[in-house]
Amino acid sequence: MFADLNEKVALITGGGQGLGLGIVLKMAEQGADIAIADLSDENLRQAADQVEGMGRKVYTVKMDVTDKGSVTAGVNDLTSQAGQIDILVNNAGVAGAPGSTGTSFRDVDWDFTWKVNVKGLVDVTEAVLPQMRQRKAGKIINISSVAAKAAKYITAYYATTKMSVVAYTQALAREFAAENINVNAIAPGRIWTQFHQDWMKEREALGDEAVVGKEKYDVFMASLKEVIPMGRPQEPSDIGSLAVFLASEESRNITGQTIQCDGGQVMV
Ligand SMILES: NC(=O)c1ccc[n+]([C@@H]2O[C@H](COP(=O)([O-])OP(=O)(O)OC[C@H]3O[C@@H](n4cnc5c(N)ncnc54)[C@H](O)[C@@H]3O)[C@@H](O)[C@H]2O)c1
Repeated sequence: MFADLNEKVALITGGGQGLGLGIVLKMAEQGADIAIADLSDENLRQAADQVEGMGRKVYTVKMDVTDKGSVTAGVNDLTSQAGQIDILVNNAGVAGAPGSTGTSFRDVDWDFTWKVNVKGLVDVTEAVLPQMRQRKAGKIINISSVAAKAAKYITAYYATTKMSVVAYTQALAREFAAENINVNAIAPGRIWTQFHQDWMKEREALGDEAVVGKEKYDVFMASLKEVIPMGRPQEPSDIGSLAVFLASEESRNITGQTIQCDGGQVMV
């Protein structure tokens, strides 16, 4: 065990699949009990089964982070089930509105992406913060993206939301440092989750020549090798391991940072 999360409860939004599930499983492996908030009942059930199989307690709630009523009710429900929330991982995020065209000019993409990636993240944080402030202890980890600092490889609206997550992380870290609440962000590189698979489907539907008729994972790997020095994708477990470190007392003097986990794509 490289970081002790025993007797801690970690809430992971969007923890039902992909990167969020990677974080759930790593935290459970290190001894945390797990609270998962996700849009999808099916994802919640499957993730909960895996955590239970590891011998940890698991609490789930169906939550839409874009609906403030759902956020407040969901956080209250999880807190009363679990007793308290010690660690919050704001992971739920989208690449654009459903049917996104991959261009940067549709209002619907700007609005929807902002509502999930920024406003949703802020609302969940504000719902969890009071109990952390009361206990003068808490760990908040926000999932940004390599897109924040390597914006040219993705749409403007997505990059803007993920840079906003960096700014929010810094502001919050400064505001609550004296109350012993650590706030950090992780900027993952490229992970072959549903997020990327849906993006490929949308590009294919739009007739993008780089994608049509090609094996989608091969396209993903080829484009990744052009920009990631280590030449390999990241895995949900890579992000989970970093989140565990940031949630543990091993990182107690780290706050306000955004840490890249991207195979060397961004070096600052
Ligand atoms: N996959 C990548 O390469 C990559 C890279 C950098 C950053 N990220 C970020 O990582 C996070 C997770 O991405 P992923 O690849 O695992 O995506 P994913 O689409 O595979 O999973 C996202 C999860 O979030 C949930 N979710 C979506 N909207 C929600 C909402 N409104 N309320 C509650 N839950 C909601 C979904 O049900 C799903 O379980 C996102 O914030 C994304 O921007 C992903």
